[in-house]
This record gives sequence, structure tokens and C-alpha cells, in this order.
Amino acid sequence: ALERTFSIIKPDATRRNLTGAINATIEKAGLRIVAQKRILLTRAQAETFYGVHKERPFFGELVDFMISEPIVVQVLEGEDAVAKYREVMGATNPANAAEGTIRKEFALSVGENSAHGSDSLENAQIEIAQFFAGNEIVG
Ligand code: CMP
Repeated sequence: ALERTFSIIKPDATRRNLTGAINATIEKAGLRIVAQKRILLTRAQAETFYGVHKERPFFGELVDFMISEPIVVQVLEGEDAVAKYREVMGATNPANAAEGTIRKEFALSVGENSAHGSDSLENAQIEIAQFFAGNEIVG
């Protein structure tokens, strides 16, 4: 089905000027960028966004990293966009990511892994609503 998913180009990638290269990978995979903005997350926004990981040992490091430099938040649209984008990103740890994926090509480590994508359609809707008003998404 036609879906929308939420994507973040993370600080390790914006810092290395890789926004366009990652967007090219997204578009080559057949996903459309139907909303996009470059922002600096507040600590409160990052803690809310990663709330499910609050008890994990890497939570503090994750939040510090995500607010360290600008990120690009996006809405991607396409057939089975949620699963498709997870394929395009590759495994969370770039050491395990398949050839041609964003994380294989660009990620530095499991933390500095260049991209985030929603893990379910339900979370996609929640995550999109945290960053975009309805009229900012133009399909
Ligand atoms: P993301 O899809 O943004 O959602 C949770 C993030 O936690 C994940 O990508 C990783 O970047 C990050 N993460 C997972 N495991 C670790 C770890 N061991 N150390 C630091 N960050 C991690």
C-alpha cells in the first residue's frame, strides 16, 4: 500500500555534507521526499522522540549526539515506504549493513549511523506528527 514514513538524516551525515547523497539514495529507491526541513533538535525534543530507549545504557549518548548538530527531518512516501526505507537504510550497525545501503555507504558506527527510519506504520504517524503539520506535507 502507499505509505508515509518518517526519516532523519543524522548529525554525522549533515556534518559531512551528505544530505544530497542520502537524498539521492532515497530517490533512486523510488521513495519521494514529500516534506523536509533542517533543524536543531532541543534536548526535550530528542528525549521525547527516543522515549522508548530511555532505560537503555546508550540513551544519554544518543540524545547528546542527536542534538550536537543539525539534522534533516523528512517524510518519505511510496509503496510500502516503512519497510522499503528500512531496507534502503540497512542494518542499524553499519558493520552488518548490506552493500548499497545508506548505512553501509555512509555510517560511522552504530550510534553515528547517518539515518533513522520509523519501525512501523503506527510509529511513522506518531513521529511525523512530532515534526510536521499536515499542511507542510505535500504529496
Ligand atoms: P535509530 O533508528 O535512530 O533508533 C535508536 C538509535 O539508537 C539507533 O538508531 C542507533 O543509532 C542508536 N543505538 C543503538 N544501539 C546503540 C549503541 N550501542 N550505542 C549508541 N547508539 C546506539
